[in-house]
This record gives sequence, structure tokens and C-alpha cells, in this order.
Amino acid sequence: MKVNGIPYRSIWLDPDGRTVRIIDQTRLPHDFPVVGLRTMQEAATAIRDMWVRGAPLIGATAAYGIALQMVEDASDGALDHACAVLHATRPTAINLRWALDDMRAVLAPLPPGERRAAAFARAAAICDEDVEINRRIGEHGVALIEAIAARKPGPVNILTHCNAGWLATVDWGTATSPIYQAVERGIEVHVWVDETRPRNQGAHLTSWEMASHGIPHHLIVDNAGGHLMQHGQVDLCIVGTDRTTARGDVCNKIGTYLKALAAHDNGVPFYVALPSPTIDWRVQDGVAEIPIEERSAEEVTQVWGRDAQGQVRQVRIAPEATPGANPAFDVTPARLVTGLITERGIAPASAEGLAAMFPEHAARA
Ligand code: MRU
Repeated sequence: MKVNGIPYRSIWLDPDGRTVRIIDQTRLPHDFPVVGLRTMQEAATAIRDMWVRGAPLIGATAAYGIALQMVEDASDGALDHACAVLHATRPTAINLRWALDDMRAVLAPLPPGERRAAAFARAAAICDEDVEINRRIGEHGVALIEAIAARKPGPVNILTHCNAGWLATVDWGTATSPIYQAVERGIEVHVWVDETRPRNQGAHLTSWEMASHGIPHHLIVDNAGGHLMQHGQVDLCIVGTDRTTARGDVCNKIGTYLKALAAHDNGVPFYVALPSPTIDWRVQDGVAEIPIEERSAEEVTQVWGRDAQGQVRQVRIAPEATPGANPAFDVTPARLVTGLITERGIAPASAEGLAAMFPEHAARA
């Protein structure tokens, strides 16, 4: 997507063929710093410390992390080591394991001397595939927005949680792709952006995306969604996912489940934008089986912001004696999900729905 008129992806390889460029997302919306990664360890740090985040981008960065490892040492041992280090960075988004498995499958059969070029080529292909998947998710999802626009006056009000935008993917975003494509088609939309405590990806990232593309939006506190739905101010929810099980349970940023409950109670359609690499075909019951990342309590007891002098500061909002607890994701059971917007079309959130959409994977699982 464009930033100040310049087209960007969230990750790319420099013309030197050796430096992977990313946007340090911890500094948005105040700054837009592009930083270079030159080692596998730097890629691991970028994922672990959330300079890059969002399931598809985590996978793409891990793929480039393997390529950077192959520059330094392309032995079998180094490949194993890089996969282990990168896999340990974040536990919930399945795209990480998917990308590492994919890279290993391409590289392991090759002699070490051929691995560097093959790794960069495959990492670039993973990025290109992600862009195409998300573009297609948008094509399918925009039909939902179009249908609502056809039967009511005024903008289609869409609520989204966290950031499943282009910053979370290589381009387009998943949940935002139908929104961007609706805007391109001249459909009037308005987006309710959940702030998404504690890291505020909605406030920092989704709001920034909406503002920089001139899309009408309001930032709301996480607890406002139910109220807005009760008052008919939400036509549609679209969120992303970090891992969706073979039967359609959806793991996403903490708070997604409460939005789905409120949507269910108010008859608001609740859709999940789902690239196929985010499906974990080995897992059925999301609540029981998906590992939920537990992050630092400081993210809860403190908030970050920029003061009037332009300094980014951390401020404590709880008593010193109060400990925080910080589960970063939750699972929305399939029964609360209206549909899964995939690159092949919109599937019912069920084992049958996903198997019919992706028969080749379902048969292997
Ligand atoms: O902790 P984050 O910022 O990596 O969490 C991101 C999300 O929960 C997104 O909704 C999800 O990864 C889907 S991104 C297309």
C-alpha cells in the first residue's frame, strides 16, 4: 500500500540481495522507521520484540530469517538451529511454523552450496503468494460489504479488532483487504477500530492505516463494541486470525471472543479473514489445543504514548503492588463465526466447510 504516495510492502529485500528491510512497527504511528535485518538473529529479535507482527508477516520474516542464516552457514546443523531459534520467537501464530516447514522442505534436499539462492527465492515467493492470497480475500470479502451497501443508506459500518491490515501481512492485509477494495470500488465505508489493549495495535496501526488511506474511521475503546452493536451501529465485523483449527475455531488477538459474543447476541455478522497458511490442520479444538502467548505484565500495568515534547514515554497506570496478567490471544469457537473469508471463497466455519474449500489439505491432515 502507499505511504505518502510511495508504494510499500511490509517486508522486502534490498537490491544488495543481502539486507531484508522491514518497518519497525513499535514506532508507529509516530515515526515510520525502515530498518535492515542482516542476520537470522536480527530476524528473530524483530519477530520476538514485535517490530514485525501479524501472523502472515511473522511467517514471511521467518522465511527471510532462514535465508539470512544460509548466507552465514548453509549446513544442515545451521538450518536446524535457525528453525529452532525462529520457531521459539512467538508461540501462537501458526504461519511461523508453516513458513519454517516450507523453507526446510525446499532447502533440506539441496546441497549446502545451493541453499542460499534457493532460500532467498523461496522467501520472496512466500511474500508474493501472501500478497496474492490477501488480494483474493479482499475480492471475496468485498461482496459482503457490497451486499450491505445495496440494502441500506449511508456508510457500511465495519468493526475490526487488532491490526489485520497490510502491516500485519506483506500487503493488503486480511481483514482490511475487503475494506480497501470496497473503497476502490467507491463503496462508502466507516470503520470502528478497537484500540486493542494492551499493545494497542488498533490505535497505533489500524488507525494509522485508515488515516493514511483517508478511510473514515473512529478509534473506540475495546469495551465499546457491544454497545455500538446494540444500537445498530455495526453492520459487519471482520477480524484476522493467528491460527484457525480444522473445525473452524478461530484464535486471534485477545478480546476477539468478546466481540464475537456481542455480535452473536445482536445478530451482527462476524467474519474472519483467513489465509490458508493460517489453518492448523492438525488441531481441532482451539480452546484446548492452541498455545496462547503470555506476554509481559508490564504491557498491562503501563501504557506507552508520545508526550507534548515528542518523547515516547511509558506511564504506569496501576499501583506498584498490582501484578498484571497478559494472555495475548483468545479462541472464538466456530459456532460464533458467520464465515471464513479465504482466498478461495467464503467457507462456513466448520470442519466440513474448510474441508470442502481445501480438500487437498483436509485429506492429508
Ligand atoms: O500480537 P500481534 O500483533 O502479532 O497480533 C496480531 C493479530 O492478532 C492479527 O489479528 C492476526 O495476526 C491476523 S494478521 C492478518
